[in-house]
Amino acid sequence: MNQLTGGHGDTGTRRAFYQKQLTESDVTGINRKDGRAKLTGTATYAAEHQIPGLVHGYVVAANIAHGQMTSIDTQGAATAPGVIAVFTHKNAPPVSKPTNDFMTSKIYEARLPLSDDQIYYAGQIIGLVVADTFERARHAAHLVKVEYVTQEPIVEASKATFHEAPPMFGKEMKFEKGNFATGIADAVAQMTATYTTSTELHAPMEPHAIIAHWQDADTLTVYEASQWVMSSQRTYAELFGLPTEKVRIVTPFIGGAFGSKAFPWSHGILCAAAARQLQRPLKVVLSRRQMTANTGHRSETEQTISLGANADGSLIAIDHAVKSYTSKVDVFTENCIGVTPVMYAVPNLRSRQELAVMNVGTPTFMRAPGDNPGLWALESAMDELAWELKIDPVELRLKNETKEHQRQGLPFSAKHFAECLQLGAEQFGWQDRPKQVRSLTHDGKLIGWGMAASTYPALRSAATVTVRLLADGTAHILTSGNDMGTGAYTIVAGTAAEVLGLPIEQVQVEMGDSLLPNGGMAGGSQMTATLVPAVMTACEEVLKTAKATTAPEAFATLRQSGESVFEVTASSAPGEEGKKWAFQSWGAHFCEVSVDEEIGRLRVSRWVSVMNIGRVMNAKTAASQIRGAVIMGIGQALMEACHFDPNIGYPVVYDLATYHYPSHADIPRIQVTFVAEPDFNFNPAGVRGVGEIGITGVSAAIANAIYHATGKRIRDLPITPDKLL
Ligand code: MOS
Repeated sequence: MNQLTGGHGDTGTRRAFYQKQLTESDVTGINRKDGRAKLTGTATYAAEHQIPGLVHGYVVAANIAHGQMTSIDTQGAATAPGVIAVFTHKNAPPVSKPTNDFMTSKIYEARLPLSDDQIYYAGQIIGLVVADTFERARHAAHLVKVEYVTQEPIVEASKATFHEAPPMFGKEMKFEKGNFATGIADAVAQMTATYTTSTELHAPMEPHAIIAHWQDADTLTVYEASQWVMSSQRTYAELFGLPTEKVRIVTPFIGGAFGSKAFPWSHGILCAAAARQLQRPLKVVLSRRQMTANTGHRSETEQTISLGANADGSLIAIDHAVKSYTSKVDVFTENCIGVTPVMYAVPNLRSRQELAVMNVGTPTFMRAPGDNPGLWALESAMDELAWELKIDPVELRLKNETKEHQRQGLPFSAKHFAECLQLGAEQFGWQDRPKQVRSLTHDGKLIGWGMAASTYPALRSAATVTVRLLADGTAHILTSGNDMGTGAYTIVAGTAAEVLGLPIEQVQVEMGDSLLPNGGMAGGSQMTATLVPAVMTACEEVLKTAKATTAPEAFATLRQSGESVFEVTASSAPGEEGKKWAFQSWGAHFCEVSVDEEIGRLRVSRWVSVMNIGRVMNAKTAASQIRGAVIMGIGQALMEACHFDPNIGYPVVYDLATYHYPSHADIPRIQVTFVAEPDFNFNPAGVRGVGEIGITGVSAAIANAIYHATGKRIRDLPITPDKLL
């Protein structure tokens, strides 16, 4: 592999396209195109759009988790100062049922807001107060008086009834190959263990917020964080019985989404419906407490894994049984068994998943949904097996690497998992790891080293991009695709600069508006693989139109002819390659922890991640994605948990102070390297995407390091101090 040397500045067209190995210290990256706007506060987020005549809504939330409203008294609220309207199920503004299909017009909760007097979870939205100021709306919302008949809520998975999970995206939530029972019977070494994760909350910096602005009774503009403005546009259109083009979604910036801002939630639907009835632009911002119930979370999981292996460490049987929960108002399964046939070659594999219904808000996609908790269990189990076999855990993984996706029956394209393991081990100094537990100490604390694998599927969708070359010497790239903070603006600009032969400063990018050509979804880590080939195609086409090889030549032609613009709109889409190959990204995490057993204090003191995500478009923002994901994984491993009060059913954590997640002081330097081999089977740019993979395997790497440090195997996340004492 080639080591990249020398610093690359952030200007010009120098790019690291074909470098084989990229590290953060190489600083190969381009600075964020949107960095200045974010730093100076000129980047406008959903709640910040200034609309004349804007009024404010505040949602009223149920404070029981299961039952029925017998009365709802809105008189005090309606007569409070500044109040314009109070909506409840008795006078709910009209909304139609959308198709509610993932690919067309999806809403997160199938039950429409204010449908009836039933309460399915604590915090459920039961009303909306609209007033001339936010404070007056909030005050009046607290004056709404509700009486309930209460039924006992089910908010603990241990008391819930589990059933076979229904198919997800058309796939059965179970898979079997070979015969697990006979396979495990032949195993020389075997282990069985149960691993659990806690309910985790989405905690984006930008709270969920929406402004709905009806220009007239049938024309709507929505300012709302959306990972997929084209889907959101169609969904709001269906909700209000309108042609799609009568709705516009505007989302130039998103302050973190992680899967929780892909589709409308109840508060958004209610806001748009109320705004239509009132014919006033209306803003609704949820409080952090309201977000705990109404904007999704990751379900807790319980996973039992059995592994069987030969004496040489080759796996002969895997069993993976999973439980997660959903809400009463929608079905969402935390799909932990997707990774099981992906990671390791095994002749006998059995997996299945069960789901219970609880009185909680609807769980949803959260960074590497399913694959993240799935790998927590599998990569912990692999470590346990490695200790039992006295085989190095890196060796065990190398030994069992699979060349094919064992459910799809297709070979993996451009897979460089082994290099990730080897390079990570080398960078970390893994060969010096003592083979006994409790054998490393420093300053009176136990030190442990752990590692785990990472993986995430590579997705790609169709995208359309418009390129304009203007006589003033600027290039403009327009597409609806969203940048949710990942760096999409920057790689779109960088790709265009590269193809057009322009300094990146002369490229301007407009994204995140449903008026722009369809750029697809910022989800499933697919925005890069979706947009970059389309930007390349559109830029190549515009040069052909201009009969030029670079944009400066095209600009000269424009000036000579007196014309103002060359413009091309072009698309790219996946073809038949998915029938030949399985596309997946790979990686490995290595970490060091120190444990003070007397007080149960744990520090993550060192971190090395090596990732294989195809070609790396921008090492700076790509490394930042991995780093952010590792931090999120450290939160999952050590801190993040949401319990529901068994009596009232409300989450006992309710804001950023009570829901613990990492701060800077909890995080060591995270060294990120890419094995940056392009995957040209996947798309002409060779890119796969980087948003989610970094969180996978993190919690297992930490638990594995804790075992090495202490000899104590912890199988229950988060690993809080009480579990270490
Ligand atoms: Mo991601 S959980 O697909 O936004």
